[in-house]
Amino acid sequence: MDPAFLGVFLPVVLGFALCVKWGKKERAVTVEVGGELGITKRNHRFQKPVEKPWEGANTLFDLFEQACKMHPKQKFLGTRKLIKKELEPSSDGRTFEKLTLGSYVWISYEEAYEQVCRFASGIVALGHQKGEKCAIFSETRAEWLIALQGCFRHNFSVVTVYASLGEEALVHSLNETEVTTVICDRKQMNKILALGDRLQTVKRVIYMLDSEEKHEPLSIRPPTSWMVTSFEEVKSLGQNSLVQPDLPSAENIAVIMYTSGSTGLPKGVLMTHGNMVATIAGVSKVIPDLGLDDVYLAYLPLAHVLELAAECAMCASGVGIGYGTPLTLTDTSNKIKKGSKGDASELGPTLLTAVPAILDRVRDGVRKTVDSKGGISKKLFDIAYKRRLAAIEGSWFGAWGLEKLLWDALVFKKIKAVLGGHVRGMLSGGAPLSGDTQRFINICMGTPIGQGYGLTETCAGATFSEWDDLTVGRVGPPIPSCYVKLIDCEEGGYRIADSPMPRGEIVIGGPTVTPGYFKNQAKTDEVYKVDETGMRWFYTGDIGQFHPDGCLEIIDRKKDIVKLQHGEYVSLGKVEAALIVSPYVDNVMMHADPFHSYAIALVVPSEQALKGFAHAKGIQFESFDDLCNRDEAMKEVLQSLHKIGKTAHLQNFELPAKVKLLSQPWTPESGLVTAALKLKRENLRKKFDEDLKKLYA
Ligand SMILES: *[C@@H]1O[C@H](CO)[C@@H](O)[C@H](O)[C@H]1NC(C)=O
Ligand SMILES: *[C@@H]1O[C@H](CO)[C@@H](O)[C@H](O)[C@H]1NC(C)=O
Repeated sequence: MDPAFLGVFLPVVLGFALCVKWGKKERAVTVEVGGELGITKRNHRFQKPVEKPWEGANTLFDLFEQACKMHPKQKFLGTRKLIKKELEPSSDGRTFEKLTLGSYVWISYEEAYEQVCRFASGIVALGHQKGEKCAIFSETRAEWLIALQGCFRHNFSVVTVYASLGEEALVHSLNETEVTTVICDRKQMNKILALGDRLQTVKRVIYMLDSEEKHEPLSIRPPTSWMVTSFEEVKSLGQNSLVQPDLPSAENIAVIMYTSGSTGLPKGVLMTHGNMVATIAGVSKVIPDLGLDDVYLAYLPLAHVLELAAECAMCASGVGIGYGTPLTLTDTSNKIKKGSKGDASELGPTLLTAVPAILDRVRDGVRKTVDSKGGISKKLFDIAYKRRLAAIEGSWFGAWGLEKLLWDALVFKKIKAVLGGHVRGMLSGGAPLSGDTQRFINICMGTPIGQGYGLTETCAGATFSEWDDLTVGRVGPPIPSCYVKLIDCEEGGYRIADSPMPRGEIVIGGPTVTPGYFKNQAKTDEVYKVDETGMRWFYTGDIGQFHPDGCLEIIDRKKDIVKLQHGEYVSLGKVEAALIVSPYVDNVMMHADPFHSYAIALVVPSEQALKGFAHAKGIQFESFDDLCNRDEAMKEVLQSLHKIGKTAHLQNFELPAKVKLLSQPWTPESGLVTAALKLKRENLRKKFDEDLKKLYA
């Protein structure tokens, strides 16, 4: 090659690449706006929060109707037909249900619109009155969205209840909102019927059947005053007596979503059409090229605001939504018959939403497969992974360009196929995603993970990471439809004047902020405020910090900050995060209260590490449990915690003065940690109440 050409070509290419690289790093994605009490930031793309994706789109029904008019023939909702259900014995003598599922059967936007109109007219024909509320209580499926839009067509507010909240919560929610019509699947219907006498406002139950389910007689007799009708019957009823729509406006309540309170009964969050539309407007602006070429895999519960907002956003952009379940997601999922296809490989989605627990599972699955193969393919994987990691972390000597293509073809293509092979982006939210998992998925799936932060009270909207942001542990800048503000939090010692980054309680303002809690003015006034310009702000109770480029990172929770007897504050979460690094610790919960001058801790020790210590010291013990009760063991662990705490610059009063070692691990099944393995403090405190009291004795 001509050296003169290289002499020009190389510097130009390198220079360009450097500009891109540095340009990216330096680019601030937020703009600071005025504000006296804290630091307020907005997305760099917009001056004022966007409220609507387009003029005239005021409600969720407007968005849906518009999408149906713009691309009537586009496929919209896809469902798999059940081909075979078998029971298979497992090695431990139990039996497992294994499913063989067919390909996706789709209805178009036009067909969905027709079904919505029929269903809506059908509930009116059944006698559902203006102003009364409907509840939808079902697993995620196509009919859920049809029922939802059907209710909106007549301005009926929809109540949703998270299925895992339990019976008391269910009765409370339906009773408090005086729901008259419950729309549910067969499984949930049995629960509703069993609670019959306690649900005094309910008059109608509409149940959805799967294609293969038969109209079996009801196993539980409903109260005589109830009308029990199938979804199909309601639609045909409506077809014969179509009624004119009675549309809501932006400030009317679309959904009352019940979420667990940290104590006591769940709270119903009021969400207006305007709130939801604002979130959708914001999120749609952040996902590049969202549109007709996309296919979205839906499988998380629609009673969770993240999934509801995601599906409504997909619907507004003409995306096809294929339904699946967490247990049939991949070819190796628990409920999938060996040799048949999971939802992802059958659908080939381009987008999906995932909670961290599911991404962790995908990561573990891939690791296990790679390890079990061993030999050459494991070696190749390890090299490929290292090379790509170096590239993603910004090294020029990592695998770029041709080498990246090579590794993609050799190693990652097969892994990508686990999720169907076409995924171009994932949305993660609901809990913090570990940096390790995020990197792993980035590299193996070759796709960005958009991390979002938001709460039911802000209609899922608050922050969402930029599509090309490959850093870990952060949740991105504010979405274009809201402001994010940090204010001083004296309790935790977090201040906006802190360096190197401003820290404080996260407050969210703008059109996504909901009106408050249903029939709970006291709680509403406590956490929502309106400023002099009329803008609503929600006080999240989460502690965050702003990175120099404007991205937010969640670092603590106000609820977990406790004041000791002499006035010092201990941030339980922060201390736990520091102490878990000790080789003796598998899990740890800090405890402190204002009645004592020192903090204490419950520790699940690492069996291997603690036994290793005992052997080295020649300590005799009968069982691990016995060892956990030995003073020597307790002292050794405490010493290790203090050493770790000092390295992490914790103050003396932040460290536990005493510990109790517990031999049993904390699992989601025991209710002591969540599915994402976060501590459930209330449950842990209740269960180990005696031990805590003894430590303070
Ligand atoms: C929608 O329903 C609510 C509650 O019944 C009512 O207050 C509101 O006026 C209705 N909206 C319209 C536009 O009729
Ligand atoms: C249902 O609500 C009413 C008031 O709206 C209350 O008096 C009653 O105790 C509640 N019943 C249950 C079972 O919660």
